[in-house]
Amino acid sequence: MRHSPAIPLPPLTRVAVVGAGGPSGLVTVRQLLEAGIPPSKILAYEGRATAGGVWNYAEHPGDIHIQWRKNGTPLLRTDKELEAEGSNGPSAVYDRLRTNLPKEVMAFHEYPFPEDTPQFPWHYQVKHYLQDYAAAKGLNDVIQFQHRVLAVYHTPGTSDPAEKWTVVTENTITRLRHSERVSHVIVSNGHYNEPYIPRVRGLDGFTGKVFHSRWWRNPFQYEGKNVLVVGSKSSGSDIARELAVVDHQKRLKGEKVTRRIYQSIHGLVDPKKPTWDDDLEWAKEINVVSQIDHINGDVLHLIDGQKVTGVDVIFYATGYLFSYPFCHEQEPFASQPVTDALSPAEKEQGIPKAGGKTITNLDPSETFYAPDPTLALINLHYLVNPFPLGEITARLVAYSFAHGEVPPLPALRKASSDPRDINIGYPQEYINMDNWLLAIGEGGETGGPNHGWTRIPDHIREARRDALKTRKKVLGY
Ligand SMILES: Cc1cc2nc3c(=O)[nH]c(=O)nc-3n(C[C@H](O)[C@H](O)[C@H](O)COP(=O)(O)OP(=O)(O)OC[C@H]3O[C@@H](n4cnc5c(N)ncnc54)[C@H](O)[C@@H]3O)c2cc1C
Ligand SMILES: NC(=O)c1ccc[n+]([C@@H]2O[C@H](COP(=O)([O-])OP(=O)(O)OC[C@H]3O[C@@H](n4cnc5c(N)ncnc54)[C@H](OP(=O)(O)O)[C@@H]3O)[C@@H](O)[C@H]2O)c1
Repeated sequence: MRHSPAIPLPPLTRVAVVGAGGPSGLVTVRQLLEAGIPPSKILAYEGRATAGGVWNYAEHPGDIHIQWRKNGTPLLRTDKELEAEGSNGPSAVYDRLRTNLPKEVMAFHEYPFPEDTPQFPWHYQVKHYLQDYAAAKGLNDVIQFQHRVLAVYHTPGTSDPAEKWTVVTENTITRLRHSERVSHVIVSNGHYNEPYIPRVRGLDGFTGKVFHSRWWRNPFQYEGKNVLVVGSKSSGSDIARELAVVDHQKRLKGEKVTRRIYQSIHGLVDPKKPTWDDDLEWAKEINVVSQIDHINGDVLHLIDGQKVTGVDVIFYATGYLFSYPFCHEQEPFASQPVTDALSPAEKEQGIPKAGGKTITNLDPSETFYAPDPTLALINLHYLVNPFPLGEITARLVAYSFAHGEVPPLPALRKASSDPRDINIGYPQEYINMDNWLLAIGEGGETGGPNHGWTRIPDHIREARRDALKTRKKVLGY
């Protein structure tokens, strides 16, 4: 296996963590401490008031405001986000969300979920787990909550590595702004905050309501409405299922169901590849249709030539964009961005850049920023098991920053050989974790040469491999 050469790094004087309260930020702060970096050298900023990141459920997500770009793509915001551009929107976690991975697969190193937690925890149990972790590891004393990072850039006109990066923050309560100089930066801001809605001609003239899954809370809010859900991965399947179960139960009680539920998949409906398993009785409430081509008033024209009418609500469960509103205006990101901007800023309309679908300018491990590896990013990829992957990535980054060198690393293993692919999947994610532990002298069956962490045991890997099958058995979907 070819490894990239080691990359020397300057000594760490202070390190900033952007988004310190989510799972990736918590493990980052923990791993920096474990690597021997004292709290006084860690500036860890979290915009939210509490630890937990996305797992901080918000019962009321706030009204949706849609700004339409000239090219027809929408930008979705709540009041809070309109007031302070770059602030976190409501978390996408909904009322009855349960994890799609078993708790033993999600757990951090030597920190299991409590025994009485179900195998597929409810969202609030994950939040409690993360907040207990933060308290148990002394992270709350290091993290500055309610501090949003507004900008990260190369300090102009300095050659002092200790002052390499300028980080501008804002206290979200007092609105006081502050600027610090640091030698290193770790970005762990998550990538499920900026809603993505594909460009669909005529969507801005749709006569019904348009939502994104970030606003989904429960099916009872759409009682009696004809709903079309776009997307068929985790969010799209959950939304369609939750709506369908309500109608199915009504039918079982002999009640009349008049509303219609559609699910529009990406591409064409292929009868040989059904979206739902035959044994799911409630799934018969869902009319699976092809992708929307364009919309004319209340008529949805599909790519197979069919038309759907009478839809009151379109729920886009089409995922999210990578978004780094704090690092796209200045250098080095202005010329070497971390993500492409999907829709160019239309400044005359006052609509900011949203972010992109791919990541760019990273080293072969897709963890360090290639133009300047004193900046690293944690947990960028899809189809991963983010808690342990983030934790081991953070261990690699903390080791590298503390030792003044990124060790030789093999290229990231992914789901395909396409360099733009952001999907990792099983078993590649474990191969990456193994490689990174080995790179820092750890990760054997009984601990590496430095007697550090052992590799993740086989029974956990197998539980990850079988997660979807197990979930169907345990939860019925
Ligand atoms: C609906 C939904 C369900 C999911 N279900 C599962 C599941 O079952 N199992 C699973 O393993 N994963 C699941 N995930 C994936 C989930 O994103 C990860 O579990 C995990 O939350 C990723 O952690 P993170 O720290 O990278 O990002 P986040 O959880 O998003 O945390 C990022 C943190 O950064 C902060 N931040 C962002 N920008 C700034 C800034 N400028 N300044 C300061 N702070 C900032 C945010 O406030 C946030 O607290 C789900 C995601 C969604 C959206
Ligand atoms: N615990 C849980 O059960 C749970 C629930 C919700 C979300 N999550 C997590 O949250 C993250 C985001 O998941 P997500 O489902 O919101 O987003 P996602 O995984 O990005 O899925 C987006 C969906 O939109 C589809 N899509 C994209 N463009 C489309 C178009 N033009 N027309 C029709 N469909 C289109 C995609 O099709 P393709 O399939 O062709 O790509 C995909 O089905 C994931 O990590 C997921 O695991 C977990």
